[in-house]
Amino acid sequence: MSTIRDVAKEVGCSTATVSRALSNPEKVSKASLKRIHAAIEKLQYRPNMLSQQFRNKQANTIVILVPDIANLFFSTVISGIENVAQSKGFNVLLGDTRDSSEREKSFINLVETKQADGVIQLRPYSKNSMLPKKFVTAVNACGCEDTPYPAVRIDNADAARQVTEHLISLGHKKIGLISGLTDNPHTIDRLKGYKQALAQAGIEFDPALVAEGDFTLWSGLNASEHFIRMTDRPTAIFSMNDEMAIGAMKGLKAKGLKIPEDISIAGFDDLEFSKYSDPPLTTVAQPAEKLGEKSAELLFQLIDGETSSQNEYVLPVEFIIRQSTAPPRS
Ligand code: RIB
Repeated sequence: MSTIRDVAKEVGCSTATVSRALSNPEKVSKASLKRIHAAIEKLQYRPNMLSQQFRNKQANTIVILVPDIANLFFSTVISGIENVAQSKGFNVLLGDTRDSSEREKSFINLVETKQADGVIQLRPYSKNSMLPKKFVTAVNACGCEDTPYPAVRIDNADAARQVTEHLISLGHKKIGLISGLTDNPHTIDRLKGYKQALAQAGIEFDPALVAEGDFTLWSGLNASEHFIRMTDRPTAIFSMNDEMAIGAMKGLKAKGLKIPEDISIAGFDDLEFSKYSDPPLTTVAQPAEKLGEKSAELLFQLIDGETSSQNEYVLPVEFIIRQSTAPPRS
């Protein structure tokens, strides 16, 4: 069986260069990589990845902590992370935490015990978060304001303000809100934007117009019942994500309400299917894939020991007006 020395001898380079070509190909010139791969092929060299990891003290693995694997927004962020991880030759371990701190802890432990090199957290930071943690290289891909470790995020408050302003500009004064769980930082930031837009327009915030959901389709459907029961119903609803908006549309339509004629509805995320909902959903497009890519790039910089002068990246969103919002009936 051929060894790494045989490959190095064949190419005329050091064994360290061959090892680098296998573990950090981006650090080796294209010409050398080509010669090394040709030699590996010719000599049928099969590196022992396990012992290589041991020597490098790198597991070539990163962990993604995802609070809800069924949420399509998160799957798109994950696919952005995967793109970058693959190009770096890293494996991705998906930690489906279902919002449980205990589960998060056990996945984070993989980094502490050197079975993984870093973590990307998709749950926004809050007081009870398991991260940041000493000796754990981590990045938050769905950050909120004031995340105390490297983070990539959008400006949630500003985006929510834009949606609410759009509804106000159409003439709506009574605007219902389907929120996420009250203590979720994204709920807090988006609520802030909603209230800012109301205040700017001189509309008083009415807590009776808020129905709490949990970012799932079913909770949106339940929330619609809250509005249906109201005698003086809102003429528009801002839902803090598309899944809940689509659930709510189903509930509203089942009770005979026409969207947007009887009630307008706007969402947040721009999921792949939101343009195909009936009617197509007005929403904020989050750059989900880019959030994933940028956070993975940042994590790999940290794993490589590079320090970054910038610890927070705020990516732009796009507000998309479709047919689910219109002026209220006069
Ligand atoms: O936690 C779920 C929600 O937060 C997603 O739908 C997305 O809006 C994220 O920011």
